[in-house]
Amino acid sequence: MDDKITTNTRTSYDRLADEYVGRIYPELQHKPFDRQLLDDFAARVRGPVCDLGCGPGHVARYLRNHGVSEVCGIDLSPELVERARRLNPGIEFQAGNMLALNIADATWAGIVAFYSIIHIPRRGHVAVFSEMERVLRPGGLLLVAFHVGEEIIHFDELWGQTVSIDFHFFRSSEVAESLRSAGFEVEKIVERDPYPNVEAATRRGYILAIKS
Ligand SMILES: C[S@@+](CC[C@H](N)C(=O)[O-])C[C@H]1O[C@@H](n2cnc3c(N)ncnc32)[C@H](O)[C@@H]1O
Repeated sequence: MDDKITTNTRTSYDRLADEYVGRIYPELQHKPFDRQLLDDFAARVRGPVCDLGCGPGHVARYLRNHGVSEVCGIDLSPELVERARRLNPGIEFQAGNMLALNIADATWAGIVAFYSIIHIPRRGHVAVFSEMERVLRPGGLLLVAFHVGEEIIHFDELWGQTVSIDFHFFRSSEVAESLRSAGFEVEKIVERDPYPNVEAATRRGYILAIKS
């Protein structure tokens, strides 16, 4: 992913941080499908988990509250990292780019990446999944979520803030193919319709993959 996309995405989320907390931080209470996936992930993973592209850290917090004792979060936006720290004392959050993580090989037993690859153009998917594969232990689990489709939606303004950000939609089959190219075994692919009045009205895709 080129530097301009990274810089624009970071700056945009820095500006959106307070609105993001207000709108999205409490959302899991209205999403039983997502909670079930996270419950299954938490029951199975054995060791430290990172929430990659964690935003304000609600997924990391959910995992911590549901049996994962070692959880951390990494996000491109320093402002969101600051909100995540404030909202989730006791969980470690740091700024970082999931395309080039400052993390040793085979560090984590699990990664959750909810709606963060949506800002990586499809041409960058094998690279980002290869980086995730590098930092996972053998047998490590990856749970990735995204918007299903083919389109790219650009915003110059969002929630009253001036931004420059692209939301990329993907077919589940193409995400699965990129995961396999990066060395993962794809175990489960599920999609669901959006929850009305809870979230953006887009179809949702989730893939559970394993570092073989
Ligand atoms: C739609 S939000 C999702 C946040 C959270 N995971 C959730 O489910 O609400 C996308 C997040 O991905 C982060 N992000 C985008 N590109 C990233 C990158 N290259 N490395 C790390 N985080 C990134 C953004 O800063 C933003 O917080």
